[in-house]
Amino acid sequence: MASKRIAVLTSGGDCPGLNAVIRGVVHAAAHHNWEVIGFTDGYEGMLSPVRYRILDTGATDGIMQLGGTILGTTNKGRFVAKIGHGNKATLDPAIINEAKETLDGLGIEAVVCIGGDGSLSTAQQLFENGINTIGVPKTIDNDIQATATTFGFDSAVSCVVDSMDKLYTTARSHKRCMVIEVMGRYAGWIALHGGLAGGADVILIPEIPFDPAKVCEVVKDREANGYFTTMIVVAEGAKRSDGSYVTKDAQGRKGEAALGGIGDYVAKMIAENTGKETRCTVLGHLQRGGDPTATDRILGTSFGVAAVDLIAGGKFGHMVSFRNEKITSVPIIDAVSHLKNVLPDSQMVKTCRGVGIKFGD
Ligand code: F6P
Repeated sequence: MASKRIAVLTSGGDCPGLNAVIRGVVHAAAHHNWEVIGFTDGYEGMLSPVRYRILDTGATDGIMQLGGTILGTTNKGRFVAKIGHGNKATLDPAIINEAKETLDGLGIEAVVCIGGDGSLSTAQQLFENGINTIGVPKTIDNDIQATATTFGFDSAVSCVVDSMDKLYTTARSHKRCMVIEVMGRYAGWIALHGGLAGGADVILIPEIPFDPAKVCEVVKDREANGYFTTMIVVAEGAKRSDGSYVTKDAQGRKGEAALGGIGDYVAKMIAENTGKETRCTVLGHLQRGGDPTATDRILGTSFGVAAVDLIAGGKFGHMVSFRNEKITSVPIIDAVSHLKNVLPDSQMVKTCRGVGIKFGD
């Protein structure tokens, strides 16, 4: 007979490493003789019709190496606590009460909420309303404050690098300019790390607004110096110097503009202004799919085990975090108060500039 019952759920966009966290939670809970249930479809699983699975160690056998989440997830629905660029949305009290009734009815003492900035904001609101939540930061975007990194990021960056390796061979054969649009929302981490490791000549990120004319100059200068291929990585949230984003849908899900289309814009602009044959590839959800890298398996497992430690220590309303090479914890509120962005004068940006990468500024 289990001495305690806890729950785990995955919320927001999926990413590689989620299953490693679930497995870590289940194994660590087994050491305490706790039973774990997994709500399906994110927080929505707590609402009628209530959906969950009993997760014992057998149920998580062999899942660490799988991408996605065995519990399913959603980045929309009735638990959205953040809209667009950080605007808070207050959860409906009736929804919170229903979730509480579900947890009480099932005898669940704590919920491990694995999610990004928006989903952790939900965990914070539930905590403020008396539910024992523990946060686990996940996102390929790596934009969560109070943790040096999130699992999923390394897998996404690996996807960018693999893709760039392939795109470079065809770009070079045809002496073309290649634009690669990557995800990351309002942060440039994927573009910065992927671009550096993939050998980009230009990286465009939201944190360093770019002047289209300067990007064209880079292509022309390279051509004049005998470099006939230019690799340009563009973050989906990259901004022009006038501060404007390119969006594919002004009113996307959750009422926020859906980012996307900047790659095509940059490619067209280069072709028109330089005459250079240019192609654009949008990597899209390839960056979120597939198996987690070893780094993400290790980070995910470590976070899962640490989440159970937080429950054992009664540190509710806290999020596990990776800082100064250690797994630690921080209040969820500190992690969701603002996004973690690339600092334009950071070492990483300096390293990029050091090897001649241009940012269009
Ligand atoms: O936050 C993760 C992320 O993949 C972003 O990088 C991207 O902008 C967004 O989610 C895409 O969301 P969706 O899967 O709803 O298209």
